Amino acid sequence: MKIFVDKVMIDYRRFRSKDGDYVASIVARYSLTFLEDRNVISFAGGLPDPSTFPIDDLKRIAVEVLDSYGYDVLQYMPSRGISMYIKELIDFLYRVRGIKTSMDNVIVTTGSQQAIDIIARMYLDEGSYIAVEEPTYIAALNAFRARRPRFIGIPIDDDGMKTDILEEKLRELRSKGEKVNLLYTVPTAQNPSGVTLSIDRRKHLLELAEEYDFLIIEDDAYGLIIFDEDKYVPPLLSIDYSGRVIYVGSLSKVLTPGMRLGHIVAPREIIESLEPFKQIADLHTPAFTQYIAAIVLREGIVERNIPRIKSIYRLKRDAMLKAIEEHIIESAWWTKPIGGMFIWIKLNVEIDTEKLLQKAFSRGVIYVPGKGFYHNENGFDTMRLNFTYPTITEIGIGIEKLSKVIIEEINQ
Ligand SMILES: Cc1ncc(COP(=O)(O)O)c(C=O)c1O
Repeated sequence: MKIFVDKVMIDYRRFRSKDGDYVASIVARYSLTFLEDRNVISFAGGLPDPSTFPIDDLKRIAVEVLDSYGYDVLQYMPSRGISMYIKELIDFLYRVRGIKTSMDNVIVTTGSQQAIDIIARMYLDEGSYIAVEEPTYIAALNAFRARRPRFIGIPIDDDGMKTDILEEKLRELRSKGEKVNLLYTVPTAQNPSGVTLSIDRRKHLLELAEEYDFLIIEDDAYGLIIFDEDKYVPPLLSIDYSGRVIYVGSLSKVLTPGMRLGHIVAPREIIESLEPFKQIADLHTPAFTQYIAAIVLREGIVERNIPRIKSIYRLKRDAMLKAIEEHIIESAWWTKPIGGMFIWIKLNVEIDTEKLLQKAFSRGVIYVPGKGFYHNENGFDTMRLNFTYPTITEIGIGIEKLSKVIIEEINQ
């Protein structure tokens, strides 16, 4: 017999905790819900190109893992992660990102989203200050918002976060007897803007962390997919000699997001402090995906896959930049990412991109309005465009459609 529980008329909201109510309201307000439809060209998603997933290798290795480690794979495992995977990850991070680390400095998380969440739980109090880029990654903002901190927004330009403005704001706070506790940055091929923090600003940021005594969360989600290799900049972690950086990484963009493999690299004391939060969240990240990833890394599958991903994405980025240059209005400013998955456009006209979206949708193209990426809901005339998921043909057609919608709106 089926029980239709949803037919019982109870207002479950009255059972909610205050925190639960608050977080639900944040997510309802700031989550990215798209007008998805097969017949529109979508620049809205944040999805990797599925043709880059090494499905045949994963199939073979999944069987191998069950054959060789079956009982361990299906068992409870330590919260920190499985040693076999962490060892491979450490070698991998050194080879591909120049990060030297050891077993004591790593914790495996269920995607890097969980890493951001547990760091926020450990290091943010209600009312404490966190500095973020303007704009920044929305799901990190929501994880922070849930802790009810005060935000300090730092604008960006082509070289990433403007660290001179950060310095001014830090000084201003100090003069009031207050300070920033945490700074969150996606310094390399940022989501949503695509910009990369220059080496000079990286050094400046690290100096400021020392001088004004705060910790930096370096979210390196796109650090492995830099296509313009002559413009490569090292991760903050690899040039930090003062123990200020909590590095957050992920295999989502170079293997598959569905395996949910993220990691934190940080000083031992920080890793130890995070472990209880990881345990509370989910005991541990699934052993099955960790074992598979250990073998994937050992066999060099990700390293062989990265150049392929880069060459596909480079072509798509170039196609989108070309189409934007040809079609998008002159007043607009847009970013020229050296990697990652996104281009950011600021129209510099009185158009609210949130309102424009419905019209764009009716013409067969969608994007993400920029407002949601600002802690203070600024950026009404901005939008994020994803170039990795659509095909090259769709990119050309989609940008032309978008341009027409914008011009029509201006001429109205
Ligand atoms: C900047 C940034 N950080 C973190 C994440 C979370 O990724 P995952 O949890 O899949 O590692 C994303 C996902 O798109 C992202 O763009």
